[in-house]
Amino acid sequence: MRMLLANAEAWPGFDTTVEHLKNDGPAIDAMVSGIARVEREAKVRSVGYGGWPNMLGEMEFDAGVMDGTTREVGAVGAVPATLPVSALAHEVMKHLPHVMLTGAGARRFATERGFAVDEVLHPDSKRVWWERLQKEMSPQQRAAFPDIPLAPLSNTITDPERVRDTTVFLGVDAGDHIGVVTSTSGWAWKYPGRLGDSPIPGAGFYADSRYGAAACTHTGEMTMRCSTSRSIVLAMRLGYTLEDAIKFAVEELAELKTGFLAGVVIHALDAQGNHQVVNYRCDEEIRYWYWDERMAAPELRVAAAIGT
Ligand code: GLY
Repeated sequence: MRMLLANAEAWPGFDTTVEHLKNDGPAIDAMVSGIARVEREAKVRSVGYGGWPNMLGEMEFDAGVMDGTTREVGAVGAVPATLPVSALAHEVMKHLPHVMLTGAGARRFATERGFAVDEVLHPDSKRVWWERLQKEMSPQQRAAFPDIPLAPLSNTITDPERVRDTTVFLGVDAGDHIGVVTSTSGWAWKYPGRLGDSPIPGAGFYADSRYGAAACTHTGEMTMRCSTSRSIVLAMRLGYTLEDAIKFAVEELAELKTGFLAGVVIHALDAQGNHQVVNYRCDEEIRYWYWDERMAAPELRVAAAIGT
């Protein structure tokens, strides 16, 4: 059964992907074309052009693509000046023997594949970044910026309402191929070079057409420590129901007692046509988009809170 599941910020591209799936398009192609719209939408303040820069005021994008039938993966991390990066991750999957490219190498490959060098720092993101940084820096730091230690600043200027969000699309096409695509600008004011979970297969995303798929938003620093997405799909392979597989992954997250701890949202579906989105310790109400071929139109639904 054709299905599509995505987080609330997916709104600019959700219908595009649904249309592709209705027209029997392959799941990955359908989702990459939808996410490209999310990445270019300035009103989405966590992904692509509308996202937030790192400590130096530079945009660094992460993205991942996984085909659950072949288990092929393409991923890019800390990519400058490139949109849409989920499409670049797809190019890595299709045209290289590698799974992941980062930084300057990813940008070089983007040029080889015909991606323009884009202006990707939204003027409002630049303004907010600079204002916050100015507030936190001493006169000596301001005079020497950017040749100063950044780590102490990254601990103080982070705005918890504006961090770590992502867009994730999980889809099933007419051939029952399951795939997942992710994209993010990552944690606002992150240390340069920081990768979140969105480009890390197994952590931020995983798909296996025989069992299902999972993808996470919010605190990548936790899902990377637990391989949350892979845990869910592996648990289903071992016979867990979708619901129990998610509970198992949440228990693993709850076992973390040290390091940076905050909320995680898990999106998951199984090969039997079930889906679930759970909000693990995010303070705000989490919503998500869902569509399957029995429905006249996509619906925005509320995620169940778990572990709070
Ligand atoms: N989940 C997105 C990130 O950690 O950057």
